[in-house]
Amino acid sequence: MILEALNYAATWPLTAPGHRPFMRSSVNLWSRAGRCAADWREHEENSKAAVLAAMAKCRQRRTAVVLGSGLLRDVPIIELSRAFDTVVLVDLVHLANVRAWLGMKGLKNVRLIERDLSGYEDLRAGGAADPLGFLRQVPYLDFVVSANLLSQIGQGAKRRLEKEGGHGMPADTLPRLIRAHLDGLGALPVQTCLVTDIGYAVIDRTGRLSEEGDLLHGVAVPSHAAEWDWPVAPLGEESRDYRILHKVIAV
Ligand SMILES: C[S@@+](CC[C@H](N)C(=O)[O-])C[C@H]1O[C@@H](n2cnc3c(N)ncnc32)[C@H](O)[C@@H]1O
Repeated sequence: MILEALNYAATWPLTAPGHRPFMRSSVNLWSRAGRCAADWREHEENSKAAVLAAMAKCRQRRTAVVLGSGLLRDVPIIELSRAFDTVVLVDLVHLANVRAWLGMKGLKNVRLIERDLSGYEDLRAGGAADPLGFLRQVPYLDFVVSANLLSQIGQGAKRRLEKEGGHGMPADTLPRLIRAHLDGLGALPVQTCLVTDIGYAVIDRTGRLSEEGDLLHGVAVPSHAAEWDWPVAPLGEESRDYRILHKVIAV
């Protein structure tokens, strides 16, 4: 708890006021990632391998952008930093410990941007969601990675709809936002890599499936090169009675 409080306090002055409400969930993610490190290792290695395989196909290596860079646990940031002139990390929040680690490693070509990548505000304004439109302004863009972000866009929008009552928002907000991310990535004239969880399963202590769900909210799963399980909440993390497994794909 003390480390979490310190990280939160150190991140506060480094974070734009509009993004501070998201700091709590980033700190919680950091905390959970530490507790579940052994269970998450294979997922993180698989994610990094997918990004490196896509990177190998880049003919030019000027600017790489990582969407949902978060804690940099499933992003091969050292390899990206060595390979590209500039690496831009985009997330709602960049925690102080992540910033400090980047400084300690001397990754001087890494830039951080705080940005909402959901497209929610576009829909709220009555327009079409274009959450990745800003990438068209990034000079010398050669590679874009979406790093275990997409399902979180759906989750975040769901929480926001519940909290704000969804007034004026389309009934199909969640699939629209997910589709907009996939279409935005697909429209980029550069190499891309999408790693995302697509579904969840809740499994009880006896191994019985007690619940399962679609994290893409009905949007068709893109054809993918690899898939694996991510034990997001091993037994004992959320409950002693069940564990939660996510299905992840790499495109
Ligand atoms: C499961 S984590 C990804 C972990 C990260 N790739 C890593 O290597 O640690 C999801 C990330 O997406 C970010 N995120 C969630 N919703 C977002 C949004 N609307 N815009 C930008 N980032 C978002 C979260 O802050 C979090 O860092």
